[in-house]
Amino acid sequence: MSTEGKSRVMTTRKLQEMKIKGEKIAMLTAYDFTSAKILDEAGIDVILVGDSASNVIAGHETTLPITLDQMIYHAQSVMRAVKNPLVVVDLPFGSYQGNSREAVASAIRIMKESEADAVKLEGGQEVIESVRRILSAGIPVMGHLGLMPQSINKFGTYSVRAKEEAEAAQLIEDALMLEEAGCFAIVLEKIPADLAEKVSALLKIPVIGIGAGGKTDGQVLVMHDMLGLSTEFSPRFLRRYHNLHDEMLSSFRRYIEDVKSCDFPNENEQY
Ligand code: KIV
Repeated sequence: MSTEGKSRVMTTRKLQEMKIKGEKIAMLTAYDFTSAKILDEAGIDVILVGDSASNVIAGHETTLPITLDQMIYHAQSVMRAVKNPLVVVDLPFGSYQGNSREAVASAIRIMKESEADAVKLEGGQEVIESVRRILSAGIPVMGHLGLMPQSINKFGTYSVRAKEEAEAAQLIEDALMLEEAGCFAIVLEKIPADLAEKVSALLKIPVIGIGAGGKTDGQVLVMHDMLGLSTEFSPRFLRRYHNLHDEMLSSFRRYIEDVKSCDFPNENEQY
């Protein structure tokens, strides 16, 4: 599967070539124009318009409440900003699990209304019919296995998945099935590093990890987490590159103080 021929620089084919060359793929989430523009400027390979927007933007406890319309709104905002990276959009909970006809209709809406490059969905054999149908419409699909936040009510916890042999074997089977169906990449979330390494070696398509160790073909993090905007979420896999929470807090406090003390605006800041 390839997006060669379109105007943006990164394509699914290039991601495949990066895997062959052993060049790591860097992916981060974005949900808005300004952040996406900075990510583009930084040289990110892939932007994921993740349904984690449900948590970090809308403040929901889970990813379940976010709607297809809301995902499209975020995807449109991101698409207005980017020139280089491949943009992948999460199909939200309830938009593809029911039946494959609904799945392809949801994916088509995302592609038509946002002009993004690909969709991502969670699951293996239980959603394979939807995956095949979306692919048959010419829409690139990224799979997602391991911890699948849309199934939190089934799992009951966000802890590490596939530690037991049976679940690990099922994950390998699902990964191979997704590749066979034609997915251009898969995300592996919060699974043992040696299992992720094994899957990455078995699959020809790129495997992007989050909490899956350093031997996958690439890494993804939620932007708000790696910038240190969210303070409550501290899993072991998360590396914080900044403490934006504290930076913002102190800027907001200084602004409030300046307004209250009539220091802002000064003579140079008026007409
Ligand atoms: O929604 C999201 O941000 C994701 C990543 C955690 C992979 O699916």
